[in-house]
Amino acid sequence: STAQIGVTGLAVMGSNLARNFARNGFTVAVHNRTAAKTRALVEEFGHEGDFVAAESAKEFVDALERPRRLIVMVKAGEPTDAVIREFAPLLEPGDVVIDGGNAHFEDTRRRERELRERGIHFVGVGISGGEEGALLGPSIMPGGSPESYDALGPMLERIAAKAADGTPCTSHVGPDGAGHFVKMVHNGIEYADMQLIAEAYHLLREVAGYSPARIAETFREWNRGRLDSYLIEITAEVLAHVDAATGKPFVDVVADAAEQKGTGRWTVQTAMDLGVPVSGIAEAVFARAVSGHAGLRAASRGLAGPSAQPLEGEAADAFAAKVEQALYASKIVSYTQGFHQIRAGSEEYGWGIDLGAVASLWRGGCIIRAAFLDRIRAAYDARPDLPGLLADTGFAQEIGAAQDDWRAVVAAAVAGGIPVPAFAASLAYYDALRAERLPAALTQGQRDFFGAHTYRRTDREGSFHTLWSGDRTEATA
Ligand code: 6PG
Repeated sequence: STAQIGVTGLAVMGSNLARNFARNGFTVAVHNRTAAKTRALVEEFGHEGDFVAAESAKEFVDALERPRRLIVMVKAGEPTDAVIREFAPLLEPGDVVIDGGNAHFEDTRRRERELRERGIHFVGVGISGGEEGALLGPSIMPGGSPESYDALGPMLERIAAKAADGTPCTSHVGPDGAGHFVKMVHNGIEYADMQLIAEAYHLLREVAGYSPARIAETFREWNRGRLDSYLIEITAEVLAHVDAATGKPFVDVVADAAEQKGTGRWTVQTAMDLGVPVSGIAEAVFARAVSGHAGLRAASRGLAGPSAQPLEGEAADAFAAKVEQALYASKIVSYTQGFHQIRAGSEEYGWGIDLGAVASLWRGGCIIRAAFLDRIRAAYDARPDLPGLLADTGFAQEIGAAQDDWRAVVAAAVAGGIPVPAFAASLAYYDALRAERLPAALTQGQRDFFGAHTYRRTDREGSFHTLWSGDRTEATA
């Protein structure tokens, strides 16, 4: 037994992760259900480091140093359970099974519990950064027991991306499902970031009248400022790309129906259960759903609405500058909502997640990596009990400075008939938090009217009910 770590499941994420470990000097046992894939990996990349090719599950387990560390990189759901069923009987107490897929955190909690009974550590690890990240340095979000992190953490720190200050983009997030929970929220924020960028693009195209090439240039410029991030960078690349077959902008020949594999949806479902308003993220998930309803859209094309006259010259450029403000302000809201959800999840499940540390490990390697995350880290490091990101003076000032333009952009979108669900929902969230009084008082009155659900008063303690169908006097409930 010579391998310090093993990877089973050698599709692209699994093989790239295995190669990353090998390239960092670890001996890596590799295994796949069909052995041909294992052989192919070693044949093609064997020169990169030390691999031990294992044909059977038994061979794989025997190749690993103890305590064994084996990473499962198969499809989330039943395939993961099947692999665990296969390997668990071959393992010993103290061994560490790592699930590097996009598992639902509730599945991770269940698996952790089941394996803990047999003395085996189960570590759900969120890994972000796509194929390239897995190979060159992803952002890694490990859950599981603190002991398992002792066995695994130093290796993860070696293969993880490094932030600009050299810190590895990984740390122990919290016990059992904490890592997969944080990865899920990462993906929710990823959806929101992508939708906000898409709305900005749509406005630049329809209201400012910019061409895709010009919009690519605009995003490049924004990427040199406070919006500096991986997603803005690749947006410029995609928009500048020209389709070889037709000579048209690539973005004009792609079918406009966005797909999803489910992590954004889980974020919103979980937020609903926790009672956390993640409206920007929810609108991003729904926007993908709307885009996919081709029949409904076709049947609705004749509905009345304004047709926007694009702006020209300086007016167009002035509008584009406002869109940058709206995008930045809405982005602050998405992260505010996402971090709120992590805090709520941490409280619900007793994970003790350090929000500053989460922001820190998202600074490099992952899809939402951005200069901005350094500021979020600093905000939570300075005040770990910050009630929300908008309570941070720096963010409050920035969003305050952006709010006029943000409103102007949403107003222009509404007037021009351009859907901006995430911009608008983010602005509504901002205004709801600001409001001295919300109409929720009326909602409480209605609930009390039809269901005697009671209400609290602003001027006295206690619960009250008005006898709506009687003499309308108030009773203490
Ligand atoms: C990452 C990504 C990744 C995710 C894709 C696809 O962090 O590397 O989040 O894990 O699978 O982004 O997600 P959708 O298919 O749902 O868009």
